[in-house]
Amino acid sequence: MIKQAIIPLAGLGTRLLPLTSVFAKELLPISGKPGIEYILDECLAAGINEVIFIISKKKLMIKKYFHNDKFYKDIIKQKKDPRIINEYKKILKYKKMIKFVFQDKPRGTGDAVLKTKKFIKDEYFLMLLPDDLIIKRNCSKSMISVHKKFNSAVMASMKVNKKDVSRWGIYNIKKKIDNKNFIIHGVVEKPTIKQAPSNNAVIGRYILPKTIFDKLVKLKPSKGGEIHITDAIQSLINENCKFIGHNFSGKYLDCGTMKGYINSTLEITNK
Ligand code: G1P
Repeated sequence: MIKQAIIPLAGLGTRLLPLTSVFAKELLPISGKPGIEYILDECLAAGINEVIFIISKKKLMIKKYFHNDKFYKDIIKQKKDPRIINEYKKILKYKKMIKFVFQDKPRGTGDAVLKTKKFIKDEYFLMLLPDDLIIKRNCSKSMISVHKKFNSAVMASMKVNKKDVSRWGIYNIKKKIDNKNFIIHGVVEKPTIKQAPSNNAVIGRYILPKTIFDKLVKLKPSKGGEIHITDAIQSLINENCKFIGHNFSGKYLDCGTMKGYINSTLEITNK
């Protein structure tokens, strides 16, 4: 059973500067609703009941967004506006399921995951990267079904243009299970076109085994001076841990760049 999800939110968001110099990118509205709420809704609909947010002091705004009870209570007392009451109810629903942990330095996704070690209860947990929105189909839900069927770790994936491989974690296939699922042979973080073993990219949804923490504690920073989850995954694969690449059916929206962010608003509005 996958009941816990983690979401790294301590990144600096430099691809969205200047907005992110004062604002948490995950709260930027996409068609009137903060991006992070789409991610939380995906978790809820996939049966997740606890979400761990990894934030930094610079991203305290995110905590405040979900913990602003006095503000709402005062306004509701004065105005009794049903719209505001509903919005507050929605925030309370999210608040109940979120726990916060801190990553003070942006040392990479692997380091962010490590911060959640003592809170993970079950053998496997879900991780969602908030820059990656997947609409039309619940990617987490279908990954959980794949996990149940094959009792293994799972990563969301899609084919990308060969010229773009250096933007992603790229994996190659050991064995095809069916049209959508593949046993992964190996994965490498942001390779050059020459080094890339394929054009199968990892997208920001992972079902990870708890054993990943044993690998993360031992990892040294690699590409860009960061600790990458991809390297920890490769260490597990080296020890015959099964990882499945799952080509999801929904539509991928990259909200981590300005162009992608603007496009995601258009896509969601016209859905
Ligand atoms: C991260 C991962 C990368 C993955 C990507 C998906 O990179 O390190 O392997 O392909 O997410 O969005 P980032 O987007 O943080 O640079």
